[in-house]
Amino acid sequence: MQLINQLNKVRMKDNDEIICNCLQVTRGEIIDAIKTKGLTLIDEVSDETEAGTGCSSCHDDIEAILKEIND
Ligand code: FES
Repeated sequence: MQLINQLNKVRMKDNDEIICNCLQVTRGEIIDAIKTKGLTLIDEVSDETEAGTGCSSCHDDIEAILKEIND
C-alpha cells in the first residue's frame, strides 16, 4: 500500500512537470488531451493545449509523450 502511495506521488509529480515552458503546459495537461481526444500529432496537441506554439523546443518532449501513450 505504501509503495502504491509512493508511486502515485511520483506519477502526480511527473504530471505537474512543465513540458512547454513558453506556454506553461504540464505533462498532465498534454496526456489528458492526447487520451481524451485521441491525438496522434504534435500539431493536434498544440491546437488543444497551446503546447509547442512558441519556440518549438518542447516538440521532442511532446513527441515522446505521444509515442509513450499511442505506441
Ligand atoms: S517550450 Fe514549448 S513552445 Fe517553447
